[in-house]
Amino acid sequence: MTSTDETDYDMLRKQLRSLIAAERDPLANTANFVGLLYDALPDVNWLGVYVLRGEELVLGPFQGKPACVRLPLGKGVCGTAASRRQSVLVTDVAEFPGHIACDAASRSEVVVPLVLKDRLLGVLDIDSPSLARFSERDREGLETLCGVFVDDLSAKISDTFI
Ligand code: SME
Repeated sequence: MTSTDETDYDMLRKQLRSLIAAERDPLANTANFVGLLYDALPDVNWLGVYVLRGEELVLGPFQGKPACVRLPLGKGVCGTAASRRQSVLVTDVAEFPGHIACDAASRSEVVVPLVLKDRLLGVLDIDSPSLARFSERDREGLETLCGVFVDDLSAKISDTFI
């Protein structure tokens, strides 16, 4: 297994910029954002985006096994990150109260909210079959990537996400 510490977030940032720069369709860009990350990050069994629809997070583009479609705000790891508008890093999902298990293989998780000028668009959710897979370095790198993604989106959308 590639060491998780070797993930080159600076290179991923450049790759993401060039991958989405020329395309205006947010669904296509979200799908490629997810594909880029899933391909680059070792020891990950699920990676995808949930999009805010009313008071729920609804499943968007992802890689991995079919997952829960609707998640309530304020519950589980995704709903907590979404309502706090802050990333949540979980070293052991069994110890996170209210964790929603879509795949029993998932042991640790990181969720980064996608926020555009105070407006919550959704979350990026990443699961690993290993305990404590995600570090503060991952959280920072992923937040930067989500920032690049949302900035690009903001230049291209009017009032819809996907
Ligand atoms: N574990 C998440 C649910 C989504 S799946 O991991 C794909 C949660 O607790 O919100």
